[in-house]
Amino acid sequence: MVRVLLDGSLAGWRAHARALAAACVSPTEIEWVDLLRHREPGGELFGAPQPSPLPEAPSQELGVPRAFLARAETVACHRSSEVWGLLYGLLHRLVNGERALLDDPLDPDVATLTRLEKAVRRDAHKMHAFVRFRRLEDEGSRNGERFVAWYEPSHLIVAREARFFRERFPSMDWSILTPDGCAHWDGKAVTLSPGAPRDRAPDHDELEELWCSYYASIFNPARVKLKAMEAEMPRKFWPTLPETAQLPELLADVPRRLEEMARTSRRMADSAHPFVPKAHDLDTLRAALPACEGCELHRNGTRAVPGHGAPDAAVVLLGEQPGDTEEREGRPFVGPAGALLREVLEGVQLQEQDLYVTNAVKHFRHEVRSPASGAGLEERGKRRIHKRPTTQHTSRCQPWLDAELALIQPRVLVALGATALRSVHGPTARMPDPCTAPAPVASRYAPVTLSTFHPAAILRAPDAARGEQMRAHLAATLAEARRSAGLVTGSRPPGSR
Ligand code: URA
Repeated sequence: MVRVLLDGSLAGWRAHARALAAACVSPTEIEWVDLLRHREPGGELFGAPQPSPLPEAPSQELGVPRAFLARAETVACHRSSEVWGLLYGLLHRLVNGERALLDDPLDPDVATLTRLEKAVRRDAHKMHAFVRFRRLEDEGSRNGERFVAWYEPSHLIVAREARFFRERFPSMDWSILTPDGCAHWDGKAVTLSPGAPRDRAPDHDELEELWCSYYASIFNPARVKLKAMEAEMPRKFWPTLPETAQLPELLADVPRRLEEMARTSRRMADSAHPFVPKAHDLDTLRAALPACEGCELHRNGTRAVPGHGAPDAAVVLLGEQPGDTEEREGRPFVGPAGALLREVLEGVQLQEQDLYVTNAVKHFRHEVRSPASGAGLEERGKRRIHKRPTTQHTSRCQPWLDAELALIQPRVLVALGATALRSVHGPTARMPDPCTAPAPVASRYAPVTLSTFHPAAILRAPDAARGEQMRAHLAATLAEARRSAGLVTGSRPPGSR
């Protein structure tokens, strides 16, 4: 019997295994004694085994398949002291005529190799997920700090997995302490040292609170499956995972949060929300708009009309919904109300290049009327008569407005008419008195938000005096918008968008 003493490393085993395989020593004649695996956790060696004299290592290559070496590297991390005998048995067969041995998954030795390999990989996966660093002041480290973690892997993987942590956290100095060995990174190299007791690692730091609140925020009550959770995050890791302390509280809150999620998803399903893409530009929104089925208006035979104007506009004008002409031309404010609006804009010298014009509701809500009997030739044919959109229409359409304005981020928003006003400030907001001066307020859409009369309402004013008042209010509001946006006649102030 040949007794081989190993230091627990693959390199140590390889040197001996090559010599023994070249000398055709049978696996049954070798006793592998691993000094690392024979050590009691934190204790001394069992006895002091003596090695046998070994054959010289061969000078020529044995011709071992590369795939075997790669798999041996993983399996060598398994805690079982049988790994060396298993690996030698396979090596012996590989170099003695069974070169395709690894291709036979049913061979008992190959099956054992695969099982041990899987256990090591699973353990590595858990380590990637469950190592938690705590910050320590350390003058000898970069930035005067070192992040230290205590971890108990099932297998001897700390040296192997140090590569993963080096790539994940290259810019911080860290140490991972385990009972079997420790790995340390200083920005240049990973160094290894013997195992360390748990009390060498800190058990709390100020980053922990941050991490715990992050964990609570991503904790998804809809995906809580206790059994699966315990399988994924075995209880043995819980003491080193700060977030587990809050699990009872989070779990107790699951029913309430599920109900809240259900309510939110009902609300989102009843709106344009599912149709609005996460867009980085207005063109993407514009391209997605025709497919919107957020409310029943998409079935009324009209097309949705997107906003129009400068993507970096300082001022956004918000109307109610497209009218008959707008729906035909696919652009907001191109009909009679738009003509009046342009006139007033010209009067206050607000220029197109500084504007983006859109509507609270993107479809044209209308009813179709037949001409009255006795109508003249020019009035023949059915007419589409504007119908004011309801609060439900505006709220269902709101995700489009949210997305547009989030991209534009205007300095000033002008709500034209009650529908626009309420889509900005809520259903109880009231139209201003036409005799008062424009009153800028902040809203979620713009730091300066103004409300005034819709040009169509001015065209339909009950009498000329009232119409004049409303028009004056519209003009004063647009002039205020220009001022608030910092726009001077014909140009933009330096440094402004
Ligand atoms: N009225 C609106 O509110 N918007 C338009 O686009 C046209 C008329």
